[in-house]
Amino acid sequence: MTQEENKIMLDEIASLVSKWKDKEGNLIMILHELQNFYGYVPRPAALELSRALHTPLARIYEVITFYNFFKLEPPGKHIISLCLGTACYLKGSAILLNEIKGLLNVEEGATTKDGLFQLDVVRCLGCCGLAPVIKIDDKVYGKVQKSEVMGILSQYNNHQEESVK
Ligand code: FES
Repeated sequence: MTQEENKIMLDEIASLVSKWKDKEGNLIMILHELQNFYGYVPRPAALELSRALHTPLARIYEVITFYNFFKLEPPGKHIISLCLGTACYLKGSAILLNEIKGLLNVEEGATTKDGLFQLDVVRCLGCCGLAPVIKIDDKVYGKVQKSEVMGILSQYNNHQEESVK
């Protein structure tokens, strides 16, 4: 984090703490706002929040890890939402999940080392007729076969994106 970024973070936290300090559930509300701002909760922000709210850092991480919503890593550039809802599961989405995990070397809820993909598992994407369904960013892929996964992912790799520019 640069000095400039650090100053922005300190100002942001000071303003959030003053906004929420006397309200019930303020820790969760501040964490929500921090995550909206950064896309995750950076460790320096958690440390500063601990100091500003006079709350142990362990308590802050307890809350962050209790709620699946909060992320500790920056979001990936492309968000993969793999559906494990009933219709998709019955059509083999667990096989697709394993294929993606193997190809990208990433676990559910985590981001690839290069930051290109984040793998999220969801319960229904609202298009069960297309099961099994994978969504990447805003694009929906339906009736996906295991053999198609690599081709779909390769559309998002850096090399191809650069060649389009
Ligand atoms: S169960 Fe997968 S889209 Fe509905």
